[in-house]
Amino acid sequence: MKAKITVLPGDGIGVEVTTQAIAILQAVASKYGHEFSFEEALIGGIAIDKTGTALPPETITTAEASDAILLGAVGGYKWDNPSAPVRPEQGLLAIRKHFGLFANLRPVKAYPALASYAPLRAELLEGVDMLFVRELTGGIYFGARQEQGDNDYAYDTEYYSVPEVERVAHIAFRAAQGRRKKVASVDKANVLASMRLWRKTVTRVHDDYPDVALEHVLVDSCAMHLLTRPASFDVLVASNMFGDILSDEASVLAGSLGMLPSASLGSSRMGLYEPVHGSAPDIAGQGKANPTGAILSAAMMLRYSLDLEAEAKAVETAVEKALANGARTGDTAPRGTKALSTTEYAAEIMNNL
Ligand code: IPM
Ligand code: MN
Repeated sequence: MKAKITVLPGDGIGVEVTTQAIAILQAVASKYGHEFSFEEALIGGIAIDKTGTALPPETITTAEASDAILLGAVGGYKWDNPSAPVRPEQGLLAIRKHFGLFANLRPVKAYPALASYAPLRAELLEGVDMLFVRELTGGIYFGARQEQGDNDYAYDTEYYSVPEVERVAHIAFRAAQGRRKKVASVDKANVLASMRLWRKTVTRVHDDYPDVALEHVLVDSCAMHLLTRPASFDVLVASNMFGDILSDEASVLAGSLGMLPSASLGSSRMGLYEPVHGSAPDIAGQGKANPTGAILSAAMMLRYSLDLEAEAKAVETAVEKALANGARTGDTAPRGTKALSTTEYAAEIMNNL
């Protein structure tokens, strides 16, 4: 098949990790007889530097003409000034919103090869395989706000409508049907009105999925259970902010934040694929970044936007084999052992493809 992919490397290690993800996609294309073309565009801090805005209109035009978007990361020290009117993160939020990408899929797996070095006891990690479905275009990220300005107050609003909760709940239940048929819905219904609406709506959507078991978990308790009984979770569905926080927490189960991929999907096949990690300005440009999250995001692109399941599986298997053979970047290498550079590590994955 032919596919057009927009690449938005962004800032920091975003450039290094997307380079490796492209290399893997190119290898997949030549192995399976596909034709993928890549067009690069600006987002984040680099876009602010070059155009004054974090998401230039040319980037949207390029992305609109493509089948999928591969994104690195945005942000860095240079743009960290909290009172700056334009910030790199605005670009990311705006592109998610522009394409209506309301569901962010973040799978978290504990790889046996990494389990004995994880901060959590290895026996707790056995069988850990969960999927976060994070609501991505609503909630407190997009609700009414008052920037501080000259005031001595500021606020953000957590707002959810029934249709916003319904559509992401459907995605979660459908995903569960293809897995272990369990959904944990995360909320704070004991305190927040928006979360009581969330719980009521998820409960109603559940009526359509009698084959799936639903549990409601309060977010604070969920944060604990993710570390005490991680293997019991299958699909978790959460609001924009709760999903953001809990998926970073859950990355510890996978061994490193650098391991986690994500897919942001809407109501068409077009999707945005990005590692869960940020731009890591502390290690940017040093060849130390872990490209696994970006490479596995490319696998999710093959699966969800390009409908190439066998190819997606092949990439995932190549990652598992490389890990089993001992390939490690600095973040996953046990103390005192050798860590590969970003390029060397990606080459190990490539060799197993
Ligand atoms: C993420 C990031 C973003 C978010 C930031 C960079 C805007 O943390 O994708 O998880 O909060 O959604
Ligand atoms: Mn985050």
